[in-house]
Amino acid sequence: MPEQQPAGAYGGGPAIPPKKLTIPEIVAMKAGGKKITMLTAYDVAFARLVDQAGVDMILVGDSLGMVMLGYPTTVPVTMDDMVRHAAAVSRGATHAVLVGDMPFGSYQTSREDALRNASRFLKESGMDAVKLEGGHEVVDTVRALVENGIAVMGHVGLTPQRVSQFGGFKVQAKSATAARQLIDDCASLEQAGCFSIVIESVPAPVAAMATDRIGIPTIGIGAGRDCDGQVLVLHDVLGLFGDFKPKFAKRYADVGSVVVEALQQYDREVREGSFPDAEHSFTMKDAERAALEQGLSEPRRPKKVV
Ligand code: KIV
Repeated sequence: MPEQQPAGAYGGGPAIPPKKLTIPEIVAMKAGGKKITMLTAYDVAFARLVDQAGVDMILVGDSLGMVMLGYPTTVPVTMDDMVRHAAAVSRGATHAVLVGDMPFGSYQTSREDALRNASRFLKESGMDAVKLEGGHEVVDTVRALVENGIAVMGHVGLTPQRVSQFGGFKVQAKSATAARQLIDDCASLEQAGCFSIVIESVPAPVAAMATDRIGIPTIGIGAGRDCDGQVLVLHDVLGLFGDFKPKFAKRYADVGSVVVEALQQYDREVREGSFPDAEHSFTMKDAERAALEQGLSEPRRPKKVV
């Protein structure tokens, strides 16, 4: 008997592959009291590893500008940068919900630009949702995206695209007035249709109060343990970025040192001639080799004595 199609599905592959997490499942985790995990990834190799680790959501963050492209801030990142990296991530991950970060200038200019650019993440990169930075000032944009079928994650607190207005990467919402604004912004973003909100670099009690007052999951980064979930930048978690580590990031491994050690060994072995050895080389039949050598002039380099 042919397998039953879910209502509304067309022919071809299933709209949502079997083991993939969905956005409604992420939202339900808050009500179910289950913590949500999110990490960034920017390429297919790490997307595969993050996915294998069982992380719930992968953010293709515009932090890629800093950790992958070497810019001092996220501001120079373009839609083309994001689309290319996000597409690579979607080729590596089969389980996690995938979120593409709208770069600076891709959603502030008009509702139409926001819709066009957000659509690129879904159509060209295989993302499930987009993220954009801001509170009350982006509510109309969020509503327009959600009404047109695009799932949106909000981002409040330290919003790195505004780093020059903030005067650096500084903790936000430290005064009662600023904290109240942040909590109100979270409520407005929920009303506009966001399915979750990143809260970055704010005092833990502020994030806790916001988390208790909205029905959608908050995902904290430098916002304390009471958020519904946590996100970190992969390079901070793995120690891939030299000695710098933001206060809120925990380094779970020093992969950078392992990489340097491995590369030093490669460098040494090539210089001393122990790599490549027989195990890593191809051979040819003796007769073919002899026939080849017969037709060649004398070697200019003296034969190596082995
Ligand atoms: O760009 C990014 O990686 C982010 C996270 C730090 C939340 O926005």
